[in-house]
Amino acid sequence: MIEQNLARLVQEAAGRYGDGKETPVVMVGAATCGRAAGALAVLDAVSQTVQRLGLPAEVREVGCLGHCYAEPLLVVAKPGWPAVAYGYVDEGTAGRIVEDFLVNDDPCIEFALAALEPNELIPTFADFARGACEQKVVLEKCGLIDPQNIDHYLATGGYAALARSLMQEPEAVLEEIVRSGLRGRGGAGFPTGRKWQTCREAEGEIKYLICNADEGDPGAFMDRTILESNPHLLLEGMVIAAHAIGATQGYIYVRAEYPLAVQRLQTAIKQARSKGLLGEDILGSGFGFDIAVFQGSGAFVCGEETALIASLEGEPGLPRVRPPFPAQAGLWGRPTVINNVKTLSYVPHIISKGADWFRSLGSEQSPGTAIFALAGKVVNTGLAEVPMSTTLRQLIFEVGSGIANGRQFKAVQIGGPSGGCLPEEVLDTPIDFDSLRQAGAMMGSGGLVVLDQDDCMVEIARFFLDFTRQESCGKCTFCRLGTEQMVRILDRITRGQGRPEDLDLLENLARSVQAGSLCNLGRTAPNPVLSTLRYFRHEYEAHIKEKRCPSLMCKDLIAYYILPDKCERSCDACVGSCPVEAIANNEDRIKVIDQAKCVKCDSCRVACPPQYSAVVKLSPPDAVPGGGGVK
Ligand SMILES: Cc1cc2nc3c(=O)[nH]c(=O)nc-3n(C[C@H](O)[C@H](O)[C@H](O)COP(=O)(O)O)c2cc1C
Ligand code: SF4
Ligand code: SF4
Repeated sequence: MIEQNLARLVQEAAGRYGDGKETPVVMVGAATCGRAAGALAVLDAVSQTVQRLGLPAEVREVGCLGHCYAEPLLVVAKPGWPAVAYGYVDEGTAGRIVEDFLVNDDPCIEFALAALEPNELIPTFADFARGACEQKVVLEKCGLIDPQNIDHYLATGGYAALARSLMQEPEAVLEEIVRSGLRGRGGAGFPTGRKWQTCREAEGEIKYLICNADEGDPGAFMDRTILESNPHLLLEGMVIAAHAIGATQGYIYVRAEYPLAVQRLQTAIKQARSKGLLGEDILGSGFGFDIAVFQGSGAFVCGEETALIASLEGEPGLPRVRPPFPAQAGLWGRPTVINNVKTLSYVPHIISKGADWFRSLGSEQSPGTAIFALAGKVVNTGLAEVPMSTTLRQLIFEVGSGIANGRQFKAVQIGGPSGGCLPEEVLDTPIDFDSLRQAGAMMGSGGLVVLDQDDCMVEIARFFLDFTRQESCGKCTFCRLGTEQMVRILDRITRGQGRPEDLDLLENLARSVQAGSLCNLGRTAPNPVLSTLRYFRHEYEAHIKEKRCPSLMCKDLIAYYILPDKCERSCDACVGSCPVEAIANNEDRIKVIDQAKCVKCDSCRVACPPQYSAVVKLSPPDAVPGGGGVK
């Protein structure tokens, strides 16, 4: 019965889904990242071209392929040809590619990023260092199916795992997840099977399942991308999880700042209900489960499980003491499982391919893949999915193609605002929950910011700690006041007013905040400070002892100076760029910066033509010869 019901849905869907093998399909990546780069205008241009030329092609709005650095992105799948992905397109190039490829059989190789399948003409993503590292599981269909059309998901194998799990006893499904070794991808890496088991065994008829799609980490967009690119994968994972734990109602807690994700989720839920994949008697199995979307208002602390539950209940989002754990007594006092978007998105894959397959990826203690949002000074920013135990070096230099603008790698900040900064020496650390923790960072939920020689590690620590300080709910004294004091100390160090005893004071405060905080926001907040003290202590010392910022970043510790022998004298570009008229000629017509007026905005350095590069930053400020005043 269950199987037949699904087979009927799949058959209907297959008739309505085109894979480019019979009729051409042109796909435009229009998740939030694509839209920010102009994807909607490209989508429009593609539609107009197809219409104008009267082509029998389907134009499809899809999600994100992960190559955010090259957006807007276009994929053309044409019968008899390999599907080809194009990057950096605009309205003009998009129209040209569609016309040349579909009408004239010219695949416009000059605009191609890579082919999606092996062929003799164009290299595939797998032929590049990046593709060789990547292994897409959760991201497999992202950017290739229409997230607003359930037929696409069904026709490409979607909901088969759900049918399979509904034909099994809940205990068997649970056992498979336990055996897979899946660990939560929301930050702490808690074993998912164990959490489900606790909830299943907890007393009470009514149980809840919550998907945590709060994604509060600055720089992180993995969960948003999954919601925007393949929402049915999450829904399928949620129904399987609900069946395993015995929940009848689910919630997706998503921040209201993700309007496209909310809209696509709501569409997906409606479509799944209309096909009998959600709601009462799912696929004729007798099992019923429904999902509601709850929009949070964007406080970082609301991602913490107990605060999230309070927020869902209509109370202020404040964490509470655990135990009891939500799996024992959660939403409205009922046993509740809370899982991250990625965690739940692995579930259909594990049920389809088996626990052993999942364990064959990654490492013994951290099986599966890891999904990262690469940001910062890396060449190829975007989303990447790699097997756990890939090294940080591979992730940054192969997947991310290294450091942008020919600069030097300095550190990688991994694990969100309460993660840690790791230097070059530990780049060969394998990415997994335990190795990263040992190195002084953490897996977190997948935010990864690459820093280069121009980033001051004291300022970076101050920036992240200031974020958590502002997001502290204020319930615990150490979290509320300890982080405040730490930010003050870091502040004065970056201003050149640090004292020799500050480093010990910082360490002591950090340990106290860790020990005296109720939730993980406070307990992990000192990580950026502790990891930078561990690996970049010399930078702190330079700020305190020499009043010098080695990275030339801290404004109070630098000065701008025009090198007399490099200045071309008459170009005047710097003079025009200075907003406070701090630059004037000296008696030799060489430009000189009046240090008293200079606001250190960097305009002159940017304006000075590269062939002269006469404007430099110096630290400490008194390194400027003669004080640098206009004579
Ligand atoms: C301050 C704070 C913010 C958090 N934010 C998130 C978040 O945005 N998304 C998330 O899935 N987990 C977040 N977590 C972790 C969750 O509390 C929880 O551990 C996770 O959702 C459990 O799911 P998992 O077992 O699938 O990892 C946060 C934790 C803390 C302490
Ligand atoms: S540790 Fe911080 S965020 Fe967490 S409950 Fe205490 S004050 Fe609130
Ligand atoms: S922009 Fe550079 S080269 Fe031109 S006047 Fe200023 S310092 Fe000299």
